[in-house]
Amino acid sequence: MTTTITKEQASGINRREFMGLAVASAVTLAVGELALPHEAFAALSKSPVPSALPPLPWANNALEPTITANTLNFHYGKHHAGYLTNLNNLLNDANSSVAKKLKGKTLEEIIIATFNKKDATSIAIYRNSAQVYNHAFYWNSLSPTGGGSAKGDIATLINSSFTDFATFRSKLIDASVAQFGTGWAWVVVDKKKKLQIISTGDADTPITTSGVTPLLTIDVWEHAYYLDYQNLRKTHVTNVIDKLLNWDFANKNLLSI
Ligand code: FE2
Repeated sequence: MTTTITKEQASGINRREFMGLAVASAVTLAVGELALPHEAFAALSKSPVPSALPPLPWANNALEPTITANTLNFHYGKHHAGYLTNLNNLLNDANSSVAKKLKGKTLEEIIIATFNKKDATSIAIYRNSAQVYNHAFYWNSLSPTGGGSAKGDIATLINSSFTDFATFRSKLIDASVAQFGTGWAWVVVDKKKKLQIISTGDADTPITTSGVTPLLTIDVWEHAYYLDYQNLRKTHVTNVIDKLLNWDFANKNLLSI
């Protein structure tokens, strides 16, 4: 049986819907204030897909003024939550043979299993599962006490991989700005413990790339910054790097390689 994939399922939330939300009246959304530490992120990615998102690791106004509560209410409460709803709807389709094969798999396993598949159901599941993963990774890449110069093991690797922090910072800004359209900028580490800065388009995620482990990410989809910065992506990513990047999360991810 052929499964019909709606546009919203395939893309999570479309631009028209986003812009409609952007002009809507105030959103009242209960965003969790409980911490989502590295262990909780690992539990999300290594467990079967949950029915509800884990709470954000901080209060929804904790990243202001760099990222406002207004942006987070849409980004987490509408976009991220929408990807999860779409994913669960796809996985719970009793008529889908693809969904049947994915039953009980973890979020990471689902992403890997559907990567580069050509059928519409697998493509939709891949896009939505990767976006669930990428956004959870992104929230953990940010901290109200983050930013500034790197610290710990990640600082050592930055110096050995990029000469100095200023060069690393400049390259991360450039990668974020140069990603055409929607996507993500990532700091990853390879098996030789050399850091790389890469970007991925749309929902793509480095966990499908053998030999690299993601350490930090920055969402450069317009929905991540347009309410606060309009078209000024460079200003946004520069502020995120300087004020929010969570070096503790990067250092915990380094422990897993
Ligand atoms: Fe996003």
